[in-house]
Amino acid sequence: MLEVKQVTKSFGDIVALKDVSFKVDDGEFVFITGQSGAGKTTLLRLILRDLVPNEGEILFDGVDISKLPKKKVPKLRQNIGVIFQDFKVLNDQTVRENVEIALAVVGLPRQEWEARVDHVLQLVGLSERADLFPSQLSGGELQRVSMARALVVNPKIILADEPTGNLDWETADKIMDLFEKINKEGKTILMATHHKLIIDKMKKRVIELKAGTVLRSDKETKSDEANVKSDSHEAKKQKTNN
Ligand SMILES: Nc1ncnc2c1ncn2[C@@H]1O[C@H](COP(=O)(O)OP(=O)(O)OP(=O)(O)O)[C@@H](O)[C@H]1O
Ligand SMILES: [Mg+2]
Repeated sequence: MLEVKQVTKSFGDIVALKDVSFKVDDGEFVFITGQSGAGKTTLLRLILRDLVPNEGEILFDGVDISKLPKKKVPKLRQNIGVIFQDFKVLNDQTVRENVEIALAVVGLPRQEWEARVDHVLQLVGLSERADLFPSQLSGGELQRVSMARALVVNPKIILADEPTGNLDWETADKIMDLFEKINKEGKTILMATHHKLIIDKMKKRVIELKAGTVLRSDKETKSDEANVKSDSHEAKKQKTNN
């Protein structure tokens, strides 16, 4: 569904991404990791067509989105749900209204809103909070609002940039369970994070960037550590013993 081909992106003299290539299949859950400044956010912004590359192609369902005429960008974005570290909710709107905004943006007829919003609020466990305002919610709940808003338009892929960055470990863990559930229901997820504990725990594919280049982009591998563990003699023994 997504293919990044030899993409280079510079900001003046700063080369944020250099010759980056990888493919993401339908239904995959992929982490993008790497140190601060490695290029994770830049990569997500390119996929969202918030930026265009200097070189290379970004194919979304076979279409090079970097060459898409401006007027076709909103249509592309309907296929992409975005979730940020700082939630980006509107404080003067209720939970329900925050989610409805996404439907207004894509122009869905009003009579279809209620059922759609009810469905995603239930999915993220916020049905009972629908009429509250953001100031009345916890950090984890706020992130659920932004997940509901991303999901309500039924996008093909979810891009998440450090979605657990502002959450404590336990809350982050619950949010990751929710991402897992969404992925199991068929949504492709591309998540930038340097939260190593989470990456190790989730055992998903990892694309690691270092100074704008791909250090690893394993398809099957979970994380090095998890791999070593599961392949080790000790782990096998453990399995047979259980
Ligand atoms: N709009 C911009 N103008 C100039 N330089 C930029 C811009 N956006 C990103 N950069 C530079 O590109 C590089 C990659 O930045 P990016 O934000 O993609 O990193 P990141 O991996 O997301 O880091 P972090 O983990 O801190 O969020 C950095 O050196 C950054 O300073
Ligand atoms: Mg970033």
